Amino acid sequence: MTPHSSMYGPLQRRYIENTMISQKSNQIRMMEQSCRLAATALSWAGTLVKPGVTTDEIDAAVHDYLLTREATPSTLNYHGFPKSCCISVNDVVCHGVPSSYKLQSGDLVNIDITCNKGGFHGDTSATFYVGKVNDEQRKLTECAHAAMMEGISILSPKKRTGDVGHAIENFVKKKNFYIVHEIGGHGIGENFHEDPFVPSWGKKNTGEFFTPWKCITVEPIISETNSPLVSHLIPNSDIEYFTTLDHCLSAQFEHTILITDKGHEVLTAW
Ligand code: MF3
Ligand code: CO
Ligand code: CO
Repeated sequence: MTPHSSMYGPLQRRYIENTMISQKSNQIRMMEQSCRLAATALSWAGTLVKPGVTTDEIDAAVHDYLLTREATPSTLNYHGFPKSCCISVNDVVCHGVPSSYKLQSGDLVNIDITCNKGGFHGDTSATFYVGKVNDEQRKLTECAHAAMMEGISILSPKKRTGDVGHAIENFVKKKNFYIVHEIGGHGIGENFHEDPFVPSWGKKNTGEFFTPWKCITVEPIISETNSPLVSHLIPNSDIEYFTTLDHCLSAQFEHTILITDKGHEVLTAW
């Protein structure tokens, strides 16, 4: 409910406004806590990435890490998704389901963790190297990270979703890699996925303006070729996972970011 000047006297108005402001900052504090936990869980998961470790073992570790810190994994049972994080190896583009697959030296692996702490969601992902990887894999991964940071750098209430997409796409094209168009960032807060959709491609001065004191994610996926994707069903789930048709590699990073009155703050800094 918004206080309407004609309905209340000045004291009541001040009371209502103050209450609204403090509720808002409480929500932001909750988002900060949830995002900090998602970030520390991701750093911890990254230390487990080694040849011979199964993606199920990493998933179980993430599950315990969150539960012992009064949080739950948002992905578990989300539209029937069966695991506590997404782990996408090599030609799996995103939404990879942890399994008995043993990581091998030379694999590129993205771990995407979303936690729910106190009713608020924090969402972050990173691509890790397993053992020794080659220069092309490093270039691809560094490009995905830098592309995410390019997109984040322009965030403010004066900018629109297309501006982020444009910043990312422009950067990636210069590096001669390709953007995956199907997946993008999203609003996040009391729901895992909220409006607006934040594409990793697009035109300047298009799309919705960002709203101050709301959170969004920026999560570009970059691939080596412009291969089409293949979608795969996950049993008993509405979620699909994707692979590249030509089996080329992809890399992804993701942060949850608070839009402030003048700019932004990254809440999931690892
Ligand atoms: N964490 C993913 C994102 O960044 C979504 C995963 S949904 C799942 O939006 F069901 F696949 F887990
Ligand atoms: Co996300
Ligand atoms: Co995510």
